[in-house]
Amino acid sequence: MGRTVFVNGDYVPEEQGKISIFDRGFLFADGVYEVTAVINGRLVDYGPHMERLDRSLSELRMDWPCSKDELRAMHEELVRRNDLKEGIVYMQVTRGATDRDFKFPKDVKPTLIAFTQTMSLVDNPNAVKGVSVVTVPDIRWLRRDIKSVMLLAPVIGKQAAYEKGAHEGWMVEAGFVTEGTSSNAYIVKDGKVITRGLSNAILAGCTRRALFRLAKEHGVVIEERAFTPAEAYAADEAFLTSASQFVMPITEIDSHRIGGGQPGPVTRKLRELFLKEATG
Ligand code: PDD
Repeated sequence: MGRTVFVNGDYVPEEQGKISIFDRGFLFADGVYEVTAVINGRLVDYGPHMERLDRSLSELRMDWPCSKDELRAMHEELVRRNDLKEGIVYMQVTRGATDRDFKFPKDVKPTLIAFTQTMSLVDNPNAVKGVSVVTVPDIRWLRRDIKSVMLLAPVIGKQAAYEKGAHEGWMVEAGFVTEGTSSNAYIVKDGKVITRGLSNAILAGCTRRALFRLAKEHGVVIEERAFTPAEAYAADEAFLTSASQFVMPITEIDSHRIGGGQPGPVTRKLRELFLKEATG
């Protein structure tokens, strides 16, 4: 693959990107992360991602690994060194490496790593035909508002979806959809977008935040409330959002065709608005 990656202050060839076996991210999933899209070599929604990182770190009483300016410079340098035109920057901070002990360690430097991944975001063929989702149980912990690297439950959910031939799993808790395994979930009924309100039950998506702003600017009404799978089956449209998929149409949920199996007009309009801004 030949990438240059970032590990604790150094830019190194990816095969030399190594961290300690004592790293608390490795031993306890004691770390947080962000995924920021890159289009035309430019970071998309960088500010909101870093605001959320700041919140994740403070909720877990973890230190920033470097200054905010240094982190931005590191993102830009990685994009430059890898000549990344379109894709993502993944960055992760952990509480650092020290002898295994559950309690927070003292005087340990956080670990900071980052790498790029080339992806086709704008001309993603999935966006043309739409994707399918299946519902899976939400077996995660109760602080999903923190973007923690503890992702085993989403991994299990995504794998279950994949094994059913679906693109994403919509997680269900107490009869209501929380969100996708790595995305936020939306349905459209009678022209109105419905998505779960923010709480500890879901991650506050940066793409969700941009979508809310664009919807407001363009007169698309969004209602924040939980919805059931049955309501989703009967929806006019459905879609998901994430930094790596933007606004992605959904045309099938648990084998129920949505919108006659075609991406709907509200979804297409919102994707278009998002792309216009991100590529502009
Ligand atoms: N996932 N909900 C969950 C559980 C997520 O993991 C993500 C993002 C989102 C959408 O957030 P945003 O719009 O800020 O990307 C919602 C990233 C992309 C990932 O883990 O790869």
